[in-house]
Amino acid sequence: MSQSNLLKAASEGTAGLDAVYSSIEQYWNETTNFSFNAKAPIVRLHEPSFGPEEIMEAVKCMLQTKVTMGEKVKSFEHLYASHFGHKYGVMNNSGSSANLLAVAALSNPVTRDYLRPGDEVIVPALAWSTTVWPLIQCNLTPVVVDIDPKTLNIDPNEIEKAIGPKTRAVMIVPVYGNPCDMDAIVDICKRHNLLLIEDCCESMGATYKGKSVGSFGSVGTFSFYYSHHITTLEGGITVTDDSDIDDLLRILRAHGWTRETKDPQKYLKQYPGFDPRFVFVNVGYNLRPTELQGAMGHVQLPKLKGFIETRRDNAHYWLNEFAEFRDLMTFQDTTEGATHSWFGFSTTLSSKAPFSVNEIRGHLEAAGIETRPIICGNIAAHPAMKLYPHRVSGDLKYSSAVMKNGFSFGNHHFVCPEARSHISRNFKEFMKKFS
Ligand SMILES: Cc1ncc(COP(=O)(O)O)c(C=O)c1O
Repeated sequence: MSQSNLLKAASEGTAGLDAVYSSIEQYWNETTNFSFNAKAPIVRLHEPSFGPEEIMEAVKCMLQTKVTMGEKVKSFEHLYASHFGHKYGVMNNSGSSANLLAVAALSNPVTRDYLRPGDEVIVPALAWSTTVWPLIQCNLTPVVVDIDPKTLNIDPNEIEKAIGPKTRAVMIVPVYGNPCDMDAIVDICKRHNLLLIEDCCESMGATYKGKSVGSFGSVGTFSFYYSHHITTLEGGITVTDDSDIDDLLRILRAHGWTRETKDPQKYLKQYPGFDPRFVFVNVGYNLRPTELQGAMGHVQLPKLKGFIETRRDNAHYWLNEFAEFRDLMTFQDTTEGATHSWFGFSTTLSSKAPFSVNEIRGHLEAAGIETRPIICGNIAAHPAMKLYPHRVSGDLKYSSAVMKNGFSFGNHHFVCPEARSHISRNFKEFMKKFS
């Protein structure tokens, strides 16, 4: 359908939109194919989880010129938060922005007992860059600690050891969808009066003792980036049960104004005489998502359960297939009491392995299987950290080993049984050389 016909169809109302949808679907079906092709095998790290339905919702927003943050975003926030048992959700333009908002809210002077410049926040070495950067951006001092090599998550004993007089918070990462040991971490935070921030940007859908990740601390964050469990292309959300923090997140998300708070009138009573649309009560960023992203989120969320089931099935299949290699490499153990949402599938070679990580990665890559390092490896080893004050607690030996000897390959909803056995076959073929 030509562009002018598309617009004509759209202007003809619902019937026109049906025609637009048919043509998007037809175009999609004719031009895209993400299924595994045994004759030219390729297993990418990511494939899109959206299709014609999501595109159509985005197109509708544009055709109706409802493009900036509005009702779709608001209703998606409610939908998302209630789906996982959080009281409030504030959507924004990325998981990194969700982390920035979470940290900015907890270090803002209007927050009770807020984090002051120079206060320390304990983080795992195996984290994403923008787990740690918001701490630095908000003038806090990251304290980097090691992981438990079995789960790949922050080791609660290392948290306890790292606590000093300036320590005020812990920011955790459930690595690749594996919940952290929340009983131990919540207990430490209570005993030492520490705030807890959960960067769950790669663990959507995971639970610990029946409770969703992201609901154990002051604020939790999630990502809707293209490669994540569900996508709004780019996008993220901060979740909290605290009404004041929810309002503050909304103020900080957009310019420092009050429009998106639950009760904007409250501020007008406090500061009479201002135009209600333009009263700036705090500093702010512009981290808003678009209405298109909110609309896409509505279509994606109901698909999450199925996407995670495929990821879980695949992970269990590989754990079983590769069990015989456990003396040469380790695979991520699911935390006790948790359900894992398997963002990716990773392994770390032990010192006994008679081959290098580059050799096995090279073999898999040659068979069309894309690989990558596990998150950032050891964040403390990256050049940016040298520029800013931080503290390293302990020797970070396990995070360094993951950085040196670990890798992962794709485990998404397009990894079908043929694709996963292609990975398994090639993995075993490589390992045969050393048996
Ligand atoms: C643990 C963690 N935090 C934060 C992010 C950043 O999310 P985004 O890419 O949406 O900014 C990621 C991205 O993969 C992540 O894995």
